[in-house]
Amino acid sequence: MSLPPYRIKVVEPIPFLSPEERAAALGAAGYNPFNLRADQITIDLLSDSGTGATSAAQEAAAAVGDESYAGARSWFRFLDEAAALTGYPHILPVHQGRAGERILFGTLLRPGQICVSNTHFDTTHANVELSGAEARDLPCAEALDLDSHEPFKGNIDVAALAELLAGPDGERVGLVLMTITNNGLGAQPVSMANLQAVHALCRQHGVPFFLDAARFAENAWLVREREPEYHDRTPREIAREAFDLADGCVISLKKDGLASIGGCIGLRDDDLHARCEANLIATEGFSTYGGLAGHDLERLAVGLREVVDPAYLSARAAATTHLAQLINEAGVDTVQPAGIHALYLNAGRLLPHLSPAEFPGHSLGCQLFLDGGVRCAELGSLYLGTMDEQHRLVTPAPFELVRLAIPRRVYSQEHFEYVAETLAGIAKDPERITGYRIVSTPPILRHFKVRLEPLR
Ligand code: F0G
Repeated sequence: MSLPPYRIKVVEPIPFLSPEERAAALGAAGYNPFNLRADQITIDLLSDSGTGATSAAQEAAAAVGDESYAGARSWFRFLDEAAALTGYPHILPVHQGRAGERILFGTLLRPGQICVSNTHFDTTHANVELSGAEARDLPCAEALDLDSHEPFKGNIDVAALAELLAGPDGERVGLVLMTITNNGLGAQPVSMANLQAVHALCRQHGVPFFLDAARFAENAWLVREREPEYHDRTPREIAREAFDLADGCVISLKKDGLASIGGCIGLRDDDLHARCEANLIATEGFSTYGGLAGHDLERLAVGLREVVDPAYLSARAAATTHLAQLINEAGVDTVQPAGIHALYLNAGRLLPHLSPAEFPGHSLGCQLFLDGGVRCAELGSLYLGTMDEQHRLVTPAPFELVRLAIPRRVYSQEHFEYVAETLAGIAKDPERITGYRIVSTPPILRHFKVRLEPLR
């Protein structure tokens, strides 16, 4: 049994609306959970980003945060922790991950180049393309079998990467970016063997290799559990070995920084650092705060230590696995094997009576809110499909998934049981669930602002 290594000291109430109130709320939100108010939600599984609970030690550190404009004590506390963890000689603070992406890609990538990844996260993809480069995903073949129990379905397809680098497009590859864990493809981890192979290929071809390390500690934990050579290593040692293999990283610290805001860029190259720093000062803030307050930097410095605690990671992994078991027993399939920060429900399989054009993942997400006040995010054709001008689906997504993201240190086993019971109620009579049609969409990043209506 993996007991969480903490107890609760400060709580906040969660709302319980009636089914009628929820139906009215969802209608007013244009059937888009992003438009709901947080005070209408009972269990919020929309994101694990910035939604975790902080510790007493983090809040104590925050109380002595130094808000000096330049060279604050809090900056040096953060710098010492981040540099010791990653080993990178240069650390630049940013207010969140995508700011780091914008600065790094804007500095490193040139128009016409290709950025290759196991899978780019959506903002990462957008920032690569905003720099004029092309974002290309090369996930491993195992990732496409949702039910297989392969341990490292987050890996990149090494053979495909080798072929790309040696082929006619090889000259255009400006960056290889490995996302650990692979948030875009089922929260699956990347093995150290895969990172070593990427490192060797990038060396051979002289291409920079970076990590998108938002969940570096969770990836390290899954490596320890699933890659035999690493059973005896600590999560911190494993994370450090991953950072050692790369030329640098971008990290959204809203995840494994255990704080509500923050991020950083880690770099080895002096010249790249100087150019990124100039961009940082112009757009985020001076290089000893980068858009963060001193108290944020203090929480992050403590968070970076707490997140690699084996007892914490073991309890968090066990909680997600337990939720997956409850959900599977309730008759709903999830992408296997369970990762740590999120579970991905196979809505396409649960709702075969809905075609991709009727958005089964979105329907399941809406029903979770209507029946139980649970909020989550669709990862299917509404998010990834291509549409014509009348908002009709042209190319569906490969899978119709729904992501249940698990905030860190926030919900207890009873909350998870409630989520599984809500899903069990849906799985008993899935035929009653209707599809949706789009009423209006924004020009880009559709899922955030799209409005829909139920088909019946
Ligand atoms: N990279 C990965 C792998 C992410 O999951 C995220 C954010 C980012 C970069 C961007 O970081 O939000 O701090 O700007 N993921 C959140 C999520 C939003 O819900 O998965 P950010």
